[in-house]
Amino acid sequence: MQTILDQLESKRAAARLGGGQKRIDAQHAKGKLTARERLELLLDEGTFEEWDMFVEHRCTDFGMEAQKIPGDGVVTGYGMINGRLVFVFSQDFTVFGGALSEAHAEKICKVMDQAMKVGAPVIGLNDSGGARIQEGVASLGGYADVFQKNVLASGVVPQISLVMGPCAGGAVYSPAMTDFIFMVKDSSYMFVTGPEVVKTVTHEEVTAEELGGGITHSTKSGVADRAFENDVEALLMTRRLFNYLPLNNREKAPRRPCEDPADRMDLSLDTLVPDNANKPYDMKELIVKTVDDGDFFEIQPEYAKNIVVGFARMDGQAIGIVANQPLVLAGCLDIKSSIKAARFVRFCDAFNIPVVTFVDVPGFMPGTAQEYGGIIKHGAKLLYAYAECTVPKITVITRKAYGGAYDVMASKHLRGDVNLAWPHAEIAVMGAKGAVEIIFREDKGDPVKLAAREAEYKTRFANPFIASSRGYVDDVILPHETRKRICRSLVMLASKKLENPWRKHGNIPL
Ligand code: HXC
Repeated sequence: MQTILDQLESKRAAARLGGGQKRIDAQHAKGKLTARERLELLLDEGTFEEWDMFVEHRCTDFGMEAQKIPGDGVVTGYGMINGRLVFVFSQDFTVFGGALSEAHAEKICKVMDQAMKVGAPVIGLNDSGGARIQEGVASLGGYADVFQKNVLASGVVPQISLVMGPCAGGAVYSPAMTDFIFMVKDSSYMFVTGPEVVKTVTHEEVTAEELGGGITHSTKSGVADRAFENDVEALLMTRRLFNYLPLNNREKAPRRPCEDPADRMDLSLDTLVPDNANKPYDMKELIVKTVDDGDFFEIQPEYAKNIVVGFARMDGQAIGIVANQPLVLAGCLDIKSSIKAARFVRFCDAFNIPVVTFVDVPGFMPGTAQEYGGIIKHGAKLLYAYAECTVPKITVITRKAYGGAYDVMASKHLRGDVNLAWPHAEIAVMGAKGAVEIIFREDKGDPVKLAAREAEYKTRFANPFIASSRGYVDDVILPHETRKRICRSLVMLASKKLENPWRKHGNIPL
């Protein structure tokens, strides 16, 4: 008996060593943790249950039959994050560069299948040289199997990808189909074709980091949601993100006990919005002062900064926040910000997370770049996302809500449940100056007359009372009571039921 136990232990030890101490040291020398060290940090201590530790590849080409490492380059299983179940896979770069073989793909698919059966999220830690070159098409088939499962799991269980090393070629498309991508600066990259191919085809000289590093994807392309300084920070932030998410699409967003009083007033909010409507202010100040304990987990903080999205809690209830940011491009909606917010709203809707929208939007961004880039189609994504969304929707207009952008930003007309406005809100077709220049064109040469017309327009339209007289705004509230009003609304909406008509799927303008 003892011999068998010893054998088991030595087999386990061999599997735990992956590609060997030399390669582990090389991984550490690059500032990267190993696949197992990463899981230790991600999961609650002692909760990891490993599966398929002894799986080996079946390749017999290129001398591979003599090179078998138990586990075959990916550590898989399940564990807990703050006591809540999660399935994980963590690619081991020390084994064939984490390259994906048929057996490696089967291991990933197995945990994804189980996650779907029990209704729990999947977190993938990617660190791989891509398709296992020695296996050829078997490896490509393995990728496609993973892609298919990513798509079937989309909207059923949350999927989070951490890219913590190479992720190139078709391998990028598994993370791309998950809900969130976190990267690590300077040690991870994602691209469809690498710097060498880029140089040959387009004659551009670019480093891997410039082409597809964490900063590039979290600031320029919007592919990544956040980029962190190192593995440890990325893993700890993933634990934080996980806390806001339900385990699956049939569960409600999690609640947790809250010490921050639901009726806490913040008098400083009464002076947040400057008297001059053209002066910006920081919408994040409102967010931080309104949510529980000032704790806001921002998604894509460095991309399309004219809109702010992220998770927070109100009286313990997890919520998604979407807010125009007057500090950047005056808070206009453009292509990037529309796509960013649309994707976020759809995630919240898929996973029963109420959406709170703070509106200060002068309209859609004008210009040929936007029109040629398809602002019509991309702006429609946000409109579509809000309109199809059936979770509780609470909207607070802090200042401008002009034109089509008023409609788009979770207006009453798009089934907003509770629509509130601050007293200095301006809800109109356009700003007073532009409006007067069009409807009183005959007064163009007379600045005094124009100024009088503008003042008249402002008094008549640049306020929340016309919208509220029609019931488009449920109430005009004082800024300092914003938190209380949202918390109460969330309680009222806790049992909200709303369904869209049956269909195979809608046709969002992609
Ligand atoms: C098999 C691989 C491998 C791969 C790396 N290795 N990539 N083995 N298949 N795809 C092995 C190396 O032979 C080496 O083995 C070990 O992993 C570490 O690799 P190094 O090159 O020493 O590491 P490093 O210098 O850090 O470079 C990492 C790398 C490079 C940039 C990832 O290895 C690389 O360019 N690999 C090939 C990438 C690639 O072209 N993949 C196919 C992409 S196409 P030893 O024994 O020396 O430790 C693709 C299609 C997917 O993935 C399609 C899905 C639809």
